[in-house]
Amino acid sequence: VPAPPAVDRGEYLVKISGCNDCHTPGYNERNGRVPVSEWLTGVAVGFRGPWGTSYPSNLRLTIRSMSEDEWLTFARARRLPPMPWFALEAMTDADLRSMYRFIYSLGPQGVRAPAALPPGAKSANPYIPFVAQTAKR
Ligand code: HEC
Repeated sequence: VPAPPAVDRGEYLVKISGCNDCHTPGYNERNGRVPVSEWLTGVAVGFRGPWGTSYPSNLRLTIRSMSEDEWLTFARARRLPPMPWFALEAMTDADLRSMYRFIYSLGPQGVRAPAALPPGAKSANPYIPFVAQTAKR
């Protein structure tokens, strides 16, 4: 029997499924010791690969623009790498609802992340190259 949707379960799911790794500024640098009030505000450092350059969205703002029912569809949509959209696709409705309620409860904060860029486009923002490198001998 799936757990009923609840804000504290949403917090737990966000924490253990790695959303903060990309969507929360400084989360890795601070070993995950970032106050919940600072979670998921998006990051303006892009990931660049064959898909172009993608930026981890500000989920605090995203969630404000849709209802909980709309989130179920939105959360499962295909995204550019390295967003693990297939992890959200695999979540139960109850878990996605918990996530929605938790993220919504944080309130809006911060600014939108830059829009994704197509391959080859130059970016004014810093980016992390996401392409395998072979050491030169
Ligand atoms: C490895 C980095 C990474 C991780 C981990 C990650 N994301 Fe993302 N996420 C991204 C990037 C980059 C984008 C932008 C993708 C694009 O432009 O299509 C994104 C986009 C999204 C979007 C679309 C938002 C919008 O406004 O368009 C949602 C929703 C989302 N992520 C939710 C999550 C959740 C929930 C988790 C935790 C389960 C998570 N992400 C984990 C990198 C990540």
